[in-house]
Amino acid sequence: MALFARATSIFIVSYKNYSKLILPTVKSKTWKNFPSKSTFFGHSILNVRFSHSDQTKKGEPETFVTFDNFLKERRDEAKRSILVQVNTENSLKDLHFYCSTFGEIKSMFYYVLSDNKSHHVLVEFEKVESVDAILKSATHIKLDQVIPVHSSMLYFRKLKAKHLHAPKLKFPVKYAKLPVKDKHFLEVLQNSKTAAQQVQKCYSILKLDDLGLRLRFQTAHQLERCFSGIFPDMEALPFGSSVNGFGKMGCDLDLYINFQSNRSENEESRLVFQTKRLHDNERHQCSDFVRIIGDLIEIFAPGIFNVTKILKARVPIVKFDHRITGVECDLSLSNMSAIYMSELLYIYGEIDWRVRPVIFTIRKWAQSQGITSGNPGGYITNFSLTLLIIFYLQQKKVLPTLLELRSKALLNDLRITDTNVDCTFLRDISMLRNIEPHGEDPYALLRGFFDYYAGFDFKVDAVCLRQGAVLRKKDSSPIYICNPLEPSLNVSRNVTYREMENFRTGCRDAAWRLENAEKRHFDNSWGIISLFVHKVRNTNPGLNVADVMREREPESEESDFILASK
Ligand code: CTP
Ligand code: MG
Repeated sequence: MALFARATSIFIVSYKNYSKLILPTVKSKTWKNFPSKSTFFGHSILNVRFSHSDQTKKGEPETFVTFDNFLKERRDEAKRSILVQVNTENSLKDLHFYCSTFGEIKSMFYYVLSDNKSHHVLVEFEKVESVDAILKSATHIKLDQVIPVHSSMLYFRKLKAKHLHAPKLKFPVKYAKLPVKDKHFLEVLQNSKTAAQQVQKCYSILKLDDLGLRLRFQTAHQLERCFSGIFPDMEALPFGSSVNGFGKMGCDLDLYINFQSNRSENEESRLVFQTKRLHDNERHQCSDFVRIIGDLIEIFAPGIFNVTKILKARVPIVKFDHRITGVECDLSLSNMSAIYMSELLYIYGEIDWRVRPVIFTIRKWAQSQGITSGNPGGYITNFSLTLLIIFYLQQKKVLPTLLELRSKALLNDLRITDTNVDCTFLRDISMLRNIEPHGEDPYALLRGFFDYYAGFDFKVDAVCLRQGAVLRKKDSSPIYICNPLEPSLNVSRNVTYREMENFRTGCRDAAWRLENAEKRHFDNSWGIISLFVHKVRNTNPGLNVADVMREREPESEESDFILASK
């Protein structure tokens, strides 16, 4: 217990319950203009700097941030932040006043979780020392009833005695974007000027926003705190859609735990740590670690619930929900190539401003047609679909092949994983970026995608992003997508014939819908709108657009944030 207590300067975690969070409906307000209690249930964002560049604004290029720097900035931000539960939004000024006594606050975000109606504030300080000081001063209550772990997850208790009112806050407030309901999503598309603009809107509306990113990095940081007693160099690194630029509001958090960090042996040191030997069977060891981590966080970590350990998989994982950040999380140990895969996708998203809008639109279409699914099984995953789109964009010469990126790699781009996967490719793509609009617009690319895969011969052909070429399939998998970093693996080996057919006929149907929409011009399903009319598989023929527009408040899987009325 002593060891555990020390190891567990504990944590935070994950979120998909973002469908359980709701945002304010106001776009820009100053702090003193906070809406009244009955109308404000959102979070505020102060002085936000978005690291993910939004390339949808033509002619406004943002400086390219390398993936490493993006991770570093976000991890630093998490280290300078705490997450505080408050009674209501009325506590905000008071909390700000109290926290300010420990150091200068850079930003505050307020959100309410819809499932338990709890109110939370993410407070970012200018300096990490302020977080250290605040955690030192924090206390436990009812010590005989709780496991006294330390973490940056706190509760702001009421003062017993009356005290002076906190002074007004004077900084400008930015609000995060609203959760998107299908109805609003379609309305935004209706009000767009062109089909290309609709595609861009899909991206700007659906993408994971700043607070979503912060809470994911906060989650990762809390795991690092949790194990810092015995593994001070441990890194918990987000990967997958949370960081590759293709994450939508509410996406899960994939986390990789690296116990060794990048520290190498210090040959100067005369003192060497006493340690235990690693078992020879590395995989066995890995699943042991995963099991223990699962147990530890289940017992000690505030906010972590529903811990499920999946130990027999090729990559053992722990899944859990976090009831403070609202994130759903998949935690794994030995997955470095998946991190580099995220970096590769991030880079592809950064090279051309049309890539993310096209990918978000196609992912949304696939979700609405039941081509992708939140459930495991023979469906095409979002990851496989993304690779299919990138491959198509390689055929259109919008994106380079992986071999082209490898041929431009510099010495400091060299990366070989511990399992010998060569993940070397150009990291700083500043010179390759295509920010100016030219060539086909995003809508034309979208149409081209459906035409391309409607006619693709999945029976014999495989897609290879490494070479940017169609290859012969190596086995009888219904869809064969060579893993770009490990070409002998098929990324979509889970996909069944039925799902491959569903995808192909879906592409044909989408091409047909777009063609028809072009003939009709500006009716209520003009442009890309008809793509999102739900197809309910094997049951009803589906809603028509008018039905969708009539629906009162349809459930949306996109809603990341905040909630609801009290
Ligand atoms: N990954 C991989 N090879 C696979 C499957 C996944 O390298 N065969 C890596 C990719 O980097 C992927 C990440 O693991 O992005 C996470 O996988 P997953 O959660 O399935 O996909 P996401 O891209 O995160 O998409 P989603 O939003 O659906 O979670
Ligand atoms: Mg994921």
